[in-house]
Amino acid sequence: MKSVAVIGMQWGDEGKGKVIDLLSEKALHIARAQGGNNAGHTIVVGNKEYRFHLIPSGILYPKTKCYIGGGTVIDPTSLLSEMDALQISLKNRLFISPYAHIVFPYHRLLDKLAEQAKGQAAVGTTGRGIGPCYADKAARNGIRVAELVDGGLLRDRLEAVLPRKNEELKKLYGHEPVSGADIFREYATLGQKLAPFVAPVEEMLYVARKQGEMILFEGAQGALLDVTFGTYPYVTSSCTLSGGASAGMGVGPTAIDEVLGVAKAYTTRVGNGPFPTELSGAELSRFPDHNTSREVGTTTGRKRRIGWLDLVLLKHTACLNGVTKIAVTKLDILDGLDEILVCTKYTGLDRFPATGLEKIKPEYKTLPGWKTSTKQVRSWKELPKAAQHYVHCIEQALEIPVALISVGPERESSFWREA
Ligand code: IMP
Repeated sequence: MKSVAVIGMQWGDEGKGKVIDLLSEKALHIARAQGGNNAGHTIVVGNKEYRFHLIPSGILYPKTKCYIGGGTVIDPTSLLSEMDALQISLKNRLFISPYAHIVFPYHRLLDKLAEQAKGQAAVGTTGRGIGPCYADKAARNGIRVAELVDGGLLRDRLEAVLPRKNEELKKLYGHEPVSGADIFREYATLGQKLAPFVAPVEEMLYVARKQGEMILFEGAQGALLDVTFGTYPYVTSSCTLSGGASAGMGVGPTAIDEVLGVAKAYTTRVGNGPFPTELSGAELSRFPDHNTSREVGTTTGRKRRIGWLDLVLLKHTACLNGVTKIAVTKLDILDGLDEILVCTKYTGLDRFPATGLEKIKPEYKTLPGWKTSTKQVRSWKELPKAAQHYVHCIEQALEIPVALISVGPERESSFWREA
């Protein structure tokens, strides 16, 4: 069975959770490699809604094993409440790498203080401490799961790290110091709760791969939030690309056979930073879903910015990820439109640029709308001709087949192009 990495091709919130949920039916192993509880997926099964931040959504299928990789950053309180909310036994179902780094209260504090200090230039982070935690990891000031679950090591690391963190809080932001004793007490207890789930995830996946079992790599955020290739500095702090799936899980790149790129049928973004096809004013108010709960971020509840589909952007992210197949989500949102605009070019440029994106002039092609509901569509054949044409345009521009289409949040509203 082929192993697949599912990654977001825009700025996150493409509906990866739903795609993962669908593929999880076939996968034995589901691996989350990067990011933390900044991510969020909502899965609807029957009339129950599940919210995921760090645990792969495939945990809802009873036979799957889910892994949280060394490349992630874990806020233990948040992870434990996500585990509790599932109300299922996670014994031998959920495995956490000892190499993952821990988000501490001072990371969340520093995230908020840094954002406030940046003023107009704020990134618009989720405030979950993700950036400061990854910064500490790279600066070798981090504390990992391996230390969290061992009282002695946790104490040693906190003693080594906290004086510097408190200096940072005081000197940069005039903030009170945090108490090492309080943090130790709270986190040692959290560590003991997580300890039964800590496992040699990297080896387990290596063995699974050798046995020919399917691994599903669940990407978080989107390609343009990648810390290296995203719209820097308006990015998250991890590698959100398919390459990050292998690096973050501690498996070689040869463990990934297919890269399924997930693209919303239009574009959205939460947080700040350039967005060439963004709609505003009257244009935005005419856009079908601009004011509904479906365009609100799962993690922070912030309204998503909305714009037309951007094929220049998608070509770029298909290349960054080596996308082999595409999933187009939320096609139904475009149902009522007479005409749909698609950006095919940036004036004067022949590629997605590394700087100056805020000044870009997008050039659009106008495609006919289908003006009929697709919400009940369950196969390619049932899709209105104009909707098929829309999908064809994406395929032609990217030279990559669209394999999966979704027309609603429910499990049954996603269908494969071919059986
Ligand atoms: P951080 O990851 O909290 O540091 O936020 C950095 C940027 O990434 C902000 O613009 C966030 O809104 C964005 N971001 C982080 N996680 C997600 C996600 O899961 N979906 C969409 N945007 C995200």
